[in-house]
Amino acid sequence: MASDEDGHARKFYGRRRGRRLRPWREQLFDEALPRYGLPLPEEDAAAPLDPAALFGEPVDALWIEVGFGGGEHLAAQAKAHAQARFIGFEPFVNGVASLLRYLEEARLGNVRVHADDARPVLERLPDASVDRFFLLFPDPWLKKRHHFRRFIQPETMALLARLLKDGAELRIASDDMGVARWMLAHVTEHPAFEWLARRPGDWREPPADWVQTRYEGKALAQGRRPVYLRFRRRPRGQDVG
Ligand SMILES: C[S@@+](CC[C@H](N)C(=O)[O-])C[C@H]1O[C@@H](n2cnc3c(N)ncnc32)[C@H](O)[C@@H]1O
Repeated sequence: MASDEDGHARKFYGRRRGRRLRPWREQLFDEALPRYGLPLPEEDAAAPLDPAALFGEPVDALWIEVGFGGGEHLAAQAKAHAQARFIGFEPFVNGVASLLRYLEEARLGNVRVHADDARPVLERLPDASVDRFFLLFPDPWLKKRHHFRRFIQPETMALLARLLKDGAELRIASDDMGVARWMLAHVTEHPAFEWLARRPGDWREPPADWVQTRYEGKALAQGRRPVYLRFRRRPRGQDVG
């Protein structure tokens, strides 16, 4: 099993199951997941992945969302950007069932779903293959001894720098200032990324084409103000070291 700099074994620490799935959701899961699931070749679990093979057609623009929760954001983006191809990652089965319902209702054929930890699959994607990457309200892991579980770490920044195309956008949000600071520090410390804030207070305003997520809606209803961070992958060769 892969491990981080401090030797923590890398595994997924979040919830995989919540309330028992209602029978129609269970059926949706069983019937629709094989259709929308990421078709990973079984013979070699470490083989590099070709986006064209995953979608059965050439892929001009690949957008990724890690931890899509109930899938509201992913489904809305996939509907609004029909030319792009999307891969969504979410190990929480209730969330996956929710996304599958949106995909079925809107007949969205440009989405592939992986109902598990994103990291082992991301590591198999080619260099400079991703056009946009969403990490929205990732698990905060507030206790200091759990910080190593956070998605954004030096090694994930190296992975994102490798995966994103020159000029590609990395979009992050959180409703916790400690987590937002952590993510901002890790991303801006990486020479490949430039923060796109233009004015003081920019990080309090969602981007123009923003789609509210389920978790964000709950945070707003409880009076918390989210932070919205947008970064650009600098052109290769122009990394600021
Ligand atoms: C706090 S929830 C937010 C969900 C959604 N983005 C929203 O805003 O409503 C964070 C989600 O990230 C998922 N997650 C955490 N680590 C992940 C990983 N390594 N790969 C894929 N999903 C992950 C969790 O299962 C959880 O559903």
